[in-house]
Amino acid sequence: MRPDPLSFLATELDSLRTQGVYRHLRILDGRQQATSTFDGKSVVNLSSNNYLGLTTHPKLVEAALKATKEFGVGSGSVRTIAGTMAIHMELERRLAAFKHVEAVVVFQSGFAANAGTVSAILTKDDVIISDELNHASIIDGARLSRATIKVFPHKNVAAARTILEALPRDQRKLIITDGVFSMDGDLGALPDLCALAEQFGCIMMVDDAHASGVFGKNGRGTVDHFGMHGRVDVQVGTLSKAIGALGGYVAGSKTLIDFLYHRARPFLFSTSHPPSVTATCIAALDILEQEPQIIERLWDNTRFFKAGLVKLGFNTGLSESPITPVIAGEGSLAMKLSDQLFAEGVFAQGLAFPTVARDKARVRTIVTAAHTREELQFALDAFGRVGRRLGLIKN
Ligand SMILES: Cc1ncc(COP(=O)(O)O)c(C=O)c1O
Repeated sequence: MRPDPLSFLATELDSLRTQGVYRHLRILDGRQQATSTFDGKSVVNLSSNNYLGLTTHPKLVEAALKATKEFGVGSGSVRTIAGTMAIHMELERRLAAFKHVEAVVVFQSGFAANAGTVSAILTKDDVIISDELNHASIIDGARLSRATIKVFPHKNVAAARTILEALPRDQRKLIITDGVFSMDGDLGALPDLCALAEQFGCIMMVDDAHASGVFGKNGRGTVDHFGMHGRVDVQVGTLSKAIGALGGYVAGSKTLIDFLYHRARPFLFSTSHPPSVTATCIAALDILEQEPQIIERLWDNTRFFKAGLVKLGFNTGLSESPITPVIAGEGSLAMKLSDQLFAEGVFAQGLAFPTVARDKARVRTIVTAAHTREELQFALDAFGRVGRRLGLIKN
């Protein structure tokens, strides 16, 4: 028998086990909701991005069923060949109106939107100025573009300025930041970065994956939240988190979108959404527009839960959003915190290096509009017990 050429992978996995950061996938039985069954245990679920509880909303389920009956289960092609259905165009028009931009292109995921867009609009002659904590899909898009990547320390606008000052004025440059950082829950330095982009003639891009449906009027995102309309050239949003289904989109000028129709590789080379997904997203936009009180509920829950964690004495970092990290330090300690919470009936995923810095391993909590006060209080009580047991808090 020939030696296994992939045996080095087992060595890597053993190393993860030794560090205490090897993870099993938790299996969800039934629906993704505020209390769900994972690995056969009913737990208060603080690990989903289902901010508004829309994954199971009856109107969205109905829209998906109706579209499936009417149009079938698949689009059958990539968008540029035979896979652009009328419903795809309808969603793009609806999103453009919602975001107050000229046009929108929808991708299969937020990851595809970021990676496909950054790699399409930049070339090896260009420079990307990127926050160090930007999402992996931005980093991968930047690498695919072969542009020079200049990373500035998290939210350090002065450092971004120093990078820009050293570049030729006529250099093509993109400044890019997450709107909400997915591991820390803090907001990108959007207003200051927009000012920099204007001063230095840069393209300005924001990834609003965790801000879509959460920040701004009716959940329009951080551009709306900060009053930056017209000052961000490329806005990415996701349909996979607060919107409850799947997908990502880019919002901007007609020229940008037309260019992406021609050059964004996930758009050209990967099959478009099934009609059920697209119809679900349209129904979710109806909810954002007609029932904004659902977003208020999310924020009420967020304030309640964050205050509870702080009162218990946890280090919750600098979060400004429904994402609240509980920072433990060492990777193995964060995993213990996560595992013991799970045993107590609370699912908060542990995150360690390389997802976050080595000494900032954590469990990440995300509350949703669908959580009841009782569920959140149950979770806080469990955090208190486990945190004291592990020496993370005293009181
Ligand atoms: C900041 C950020 N951008 C983009 C994405 C990708 O979005 P999607 O899950 O729709 O691919 C994520 C998802 O984890 C994210 O956290």
